[in-house]
Amino acid sequence: MSVQESQLVPLVEARGIVKRYGPTTALADGRLTVLSGESHALVGRNGAGKSTLVTVLTGLQAPDEGTVRFDGEPAPQLADRDAWRRKVACVYQHPTVVPELTVAENLFINRQPLHRGFISWRRLKTEAAALLDTWDVHVDPEARTADLKVEDRQMVEIARALSFGARFIVLDEPTAQLDKREIERLFSRMRALQDSGVTFLFISHHLQEVYEVCQTVTVLRDARWITTAPVADLPRAALIEAMAGESMETIAEQAVQEQIVDDSAPVLLEVRGLTSDAYDSVDLTVRRGEVVGLAGSSASGKIELAEAIAGLRAPTAGTARLDGERLQFGSVQAALKAGIGCVPRDRHEQGLVRGMTIGDNATMSVLDRFGRFGFIGTDRKRGFATELIDRLDIHAEGPEQPVSDLSGGNAQKVVMARALASDPRLLVLINPTAGVDVKSKESLLARVDSAREDGTAVLVVSDELDDLRRCDRVLVLFHGRVVAEHPAGWRDHELIASIEGVDHHG
Ligand SMILES: Nc1ncnc2c1ncn2[C@@H]1O[C@H](COP(=O)(O)OP(=O)(O)OP(=O)(O)O)[C@@H](O)[C@H]1O
Ligand SMILES: [Mg+2]
Repeated sequence: MSVQESQLVPLVEARGIVKRYGPTTALADGRLTVLSGESHALVGRNGAGKSTLVTVLTGLQAPDEGTVRFDGEPAPQLADRDAWRRKVACVYQHPTVVPELTVAENLFINRQPLHRGFISWRRLKTEAAALLDTWDVHVDPEARTADLKVEDRQMVEIARALSFGARFIVLDEPTAQLDKREIERLFSRMRALQDSGVTFLFISHHLQEVYEVCQTVTVLRDARWITTAPVADLPRAALIEAMAGESMETIAEQAVQEQIVDDSAPVLLEVRGLTSDAYDSVDLTVRRGEVVGLAGSSASGKIELAEAIAGLRAPTAGTARLDGERLQFGSVQAALKAGIGCVPRDRHEQGLVRGMTIGDNATMSVLDRFGRFGFIGTDRKRGFATELIDRLDIHAEGPEQPVSDLSGGNAQKVVMARALASDPRLLVLINPTAGVDVKSKESLLARVDSAREDGTAVLVVSDELDDLRRCDRVLVLFHGRVVAEHPAGWRDHELIASIEGVDHHG
């Protein structure tokens, strides 16, 4: 093959991919052509088939139809895991490394260097250090993987993939749990790796990131390939149109108008002097029908604070009252009973019961309303769940489907449905739109607006400026203290400056 010809052979090529799960067709016509050395974005609405295509590209599942080629050669047999590992790896939001092991152990799991038949710990450590060094990853090989920050854990996973020889790395929503600084660091690492010959497939619902790090974009819609184009040829409006199948204007019209809270409304949540090792002497109030945002970097303590209010952790000092009644900390049951609905940070760990159906998950906090003595009115429950699926725009076959079948963003919507189902007096939402597509975000945030109209108080913790924009005011936490309050109407750069701590150090 001449040099020119080899440049024409794509690094990865998937054609006519079909994948069905029972009645669901996850992919009807999946296509992807990735050229060596590019960063290629894969975008589409929740349930469009992105992660399904990734399972096929990484050899986790065989497609029902279609072919995958690497460098013009047919993909390895499904059982040949080693061959796949030499081609491709995927880094997800959730770890694929073993949290209890050290970084070095994770890097060389099942292929530890042996010395006279025994694992040589010294060599393990030096080889791990050398590997991390080669790829410029600044992580201690002896650190326990569970103690790593998400961004470092992702870099360890990438280094591990590269050490197997893979030069094609799939990042499935890597930025969903990262703050702004961490995202910037990930992107500069991606660019450096790209310069050393690594090719990326990048999945994200943050379209501005696609423009920032990718050269080419492929759009999937309703299980089908729609288009592949240089990002420069597909401006934001055209990209959204390709994803949603309708114009930006139509989507914008569906967006709800902002509303103003009545500042004589009674205070519903009153937090005084709340303290733990993550935050210090925090006071805050939320009125009936008010939406208060909490912003800050990953290290600000904002998530820990919200989790304390939602009963997920216990602070070391301070009080919180809901409608005058003192909240009992550290008990989700007590929080639920007090009328608090919560969208927790991690839907994998705290969010959903994976073996249960969508309907059961959505209604689990309100079971007693459907029947006495544990005897549940199935029809009523089904009707209720169907309505929630509809109102939250959940892409599923019906309420009987297990949540484990759902795409990431649709699972997130079920968590929201459950929080809303109990008609809470206070809603605590932690990164509520993480992994949710551009259009579904609107319907999800519209549910928050109707809850507030009904008098619910809402506390929103988020890294997304779009989530915070709809708040009546945003409190900014910096190193565990509230350092600023921005009433609605703030400019992006003002909020970003206080999140980064550059406007309150004078
Ligand atoms: N194991 C499964 N069993 C049944 N249905 C599934 C399974 N995995 C995925 N699906 C369905 O296939 C469709 C595509 O899902 P996929 O996870 O590929 O979407 P996605 O584009 O990654 O969405 P998101 O942006 O929400 O992550 C969805 O309708 C989903 O419910
Ligand atoms: Mg997905």
